[in-house]
Amino acid sequence: MSAAPPPAPVCADDYARRAQSLLPPAVAAYIDGGSGDDQALRANREAFAAVSLLPRVLRRDGTGSTRLQLFGRTLRHPILLAPVARHGLVHADAAAATARAARATASVMVASTQSSLPLETIAAALDGLGWFQLYLQPRREDTLALVRRAEAAGFRALVLTLDAPVQMASREAMRAGPAGSPGDVVPNLARQSPPPQRELEADASLVFQGAMADAPDWEDLAWLRRETALPIVAKGVAHPDDAARLRELGVDGIAVSNHGGRALAAAPASLHLLPAIRARLGDAFPLLLDGGVRSGADVFKALAFGADAVMIGRPQLHALAVAGAAGVAHLLKSLRDELEVTMALTGCFRLADIDRRAVFERTIPC
Ligand SMILES: Cc1cc2nc3c(=O)[nH]c(=O)nc-3n(C[C@H](O)[C@H](O)[C@H](O)COP(=O)(O)O)c2cc1C
Repeated sequence: MSAAPPPAPVCADDYARRAQSLLPPAVAAYIDGGSGDDQALRANREAFAAVSLLPRVLRRDGTGSTRLQLFGRTLRHPILLAPVARHGLVHADAAAATARAARATASVMVASTQSSLPLETIAAALDGLGWFQLYLQPRREDTLALVRRAEAAGFRALVLTLDAPVQMASREAMRAGPAGSPGDVVPNLARQSPPPQRELEADASLVFQGAMADAPDWEDLAWLRRETALPIVAKGVAHPDDAARLRELGVDGIAVSNHGGRALAAAPASLHLLPAIRARLGDAFPLLLDGGVRSGADVFKALAFGADAVMIGRPQLHALAVAGAAGVAHLLKSLRDELEVTMALTGCFRLADIDRRAVFERTIPC
């Protein structure tokens, strides 16, 4: 007699467990790992788990909604798909399948520079719901070529990732070995000529004289601002001073993020970074958060701490691996359903109603 099929996933954690058992160990370790000893990865989840919310009673409202305005457009809900490289590792249709799910659920998807598919293919599947994640390239002409392609393809914003000029995999991922094959190319970068090669002295550092010698700086940011009219969201910002300077330079929004724990291994939880940045930038400046969001209650908590919207990273790959586009669409719908129930039971009927008063901080705020 064959064993009963496993129950269908009902939440992000179910997709994560199922993906873990389906994917080759090196791919699972690449996706699920953070950096180094995974301190920041753990911190993201622990921060959400430590927050409780206050229920409220006898509040009726038939006009509630999860809608928000961002960069002059109305979004139906505040749950975005974070830029994630290499969807092709988990599904044959790669990010095109994720894009179909985004479109089916009216969700914004941020397409990664390092996608397994050309940005034009993803934009076509997104029909106006796409933002493009940009890494500044060592040569400005290569960056500009990507920006012009993103503009022409119809992406509505650029998400400029700043927190990973160098990166170290998690120890688990290092032990598990490479997730893809050595010949894997990044289609968005395939037209570029090879990056400039440096002759390194025998005792030179691959970090300081290697990657960091070509890393972007504030001048590059100012240059990019002059080159494009698309809204720019700076991703990977942790320090309020950096956030304030980015705003001065004309950035339109900030994504508070520790790259899902994949950049600085000892970074704090992104949830804990939010309040100081919100306080510095004021109520009106668009702020996103990612890192550890796994439920609608987590989305609510991020908004209560100062975010306007959140992005989810790993869960989209887990759902894609388990059930393709239908899995990602189901995941997004469940997160939104959970958010709506959390809003109803805390007496917050619009996203603008969500703030720290909904958070239980040992005593009830009076
Ligand atoms: C496998 C993987 C690939 C990623 N690739 C990118 C990328 O290409 N560009 C980028 O800005 N962030 C990338 N990220 C980081 C995500 O955009 C996001 O910051 C992070 O996953 C959020 O944390 P979460 O996975 O806990 O939701 C990647 C994350 C993962 C897990």
